[in-house]
Amino acid sequence: MKLNSILNKNIKQKKILLRVDFNVPLKNNKITDDTKIKESLPTIKYLLNNQNSLIITSHLGRPKNKNDKQLSLKPIAKKLQKLLKKKVIFLNSELNQNTINRLQNIKSGEIYLLENIRFNNGEEKNNITLSKKLASTADIFVNDAFASSHRKHSSVYGVVKYLPSYAGLLLQKEFDQLNKFIGKIKEPVTFIIGGSKIDTKINLIESFVKRTNNFLIGGGLANTFLASKKYQLANSFYQKNKIKVAEKIISLIHQNRKNIYLPEDFVIAKKLSDFTLTKNTNTKNIPNNYSIYDIGTKSTKEFCQIIKKSKTIIFNGPVGVTEFKPFRNGTKKILLAMKKATKSGATTLIGGGDTLEALKLCKISPKGFTHISTGGGAMLEFLEKNGKIPGIEVLVKK
Ligand code: 3PG
Repeated sequence: MKLNSILNKNIKQKKILLRVDFNVPLKNNKITDDTKIKESLPTIKYLLNNQNSLIITSHLGRPKNKNDKQLSLKPIAKKLQKLLKKKVIFLNSELNQNTINRLQNIKSGEIYLLENIRFNNGEEKNNITLSKKLASTADIFVNDAFASSHRKHSSVYGVVKYLPSYAGLLLQKEFDQLNKFIGKIKEPVTFIIGGSKIDTKINLIESFVKRTNNFLIGGGLANTFLASKKYQLANSFYQKNKIKVAEKIISLIHQNRKNIYLPEDFVIAKKLSDFTLTKNTNTKNIPNNYSIYDIGTKSTKEFCQIIKKSKTIIFNGPVGVTEFKPFRNGTKKILLAMKKATKSGATTLIGGGDTLEALKLCKISPKGFTHISTGGGAMLEFLEKNGKIPGIEVLVKK
């Protein structure tokens, strides 16, 4: 499977609609990790160097309505302008006739960044009218949003039907690296899964259970599994209504004769802050007023031992609340163990916005892993479906 890449076509002096994934973490309107923006700069610069003009579009978060100011791309427009040292014109994404006229008259070298494309009702429904409107603004469509390419949305998928379409440099890089990864899966395979909600991980575990030897579970996700084993979790986050799901996953893993490891000790605290007092505990009964915020030292050691013995390791979702200093240890040690494993010949892959941010918070250099993907869900679906995800399939060379 080969992609139609921007490098295979002499794209010069064109109006380009460029879909990127600028879905970066923000705190008080400030970007806390700009990796995804920086990763798309090579494509942006390449297209600008060839005298093209750019209409850039992205989503941010999962807005419930178009007035969700917390999810505006305005701070990202500023950041992009700073990184490019070029003016970036920020424009609403409503695509009424005025906006379309303005975009159709874009001048060579100009850069527009549209407001959060998910403020538009049709985006997630892959609405034909929206896809056509987007297409009407440009001569060519370029998808560099690997992290969104598992979505059948208008600005990723629908628009391809109406414009000559190509893969950007980041999309191509992810495609090449992940395909290499798929070709190299050697046992034992260890999958470290963190994050908070079990719902988003069920399909993942189901589809990887045949190919994975060890599942190491951390984060809020682990609490739901622990609750199913009758742990008393005090104030810890867990999903009461998903305990049956946790039980189902545990028996699925056992039926397939694979291993699931849950943390057996924990870092607990009364509140989430950088200066809170913490305890390491291994009790089944978390004291009142306390919550679990990270895996404990014994569990961290056990997880790292398993990583050491593995030949393929995938990490998606931090195992603690890494936004706060006292709860980074588990994630940090896992990342360091993965680097060591890479040195000893294992293939290692990390991915997902939260994991990228955790890497930065734990002050770990991105060098020394086999691949760091900008995609979370996209990376996992890519692995699961051997690359056949919607936004990529439509860019395959016929
Ligand atoms: C991600 O962060 O994984 C991508 O930006 C996709 O976001 P989504 O899961 O809201 O579609």
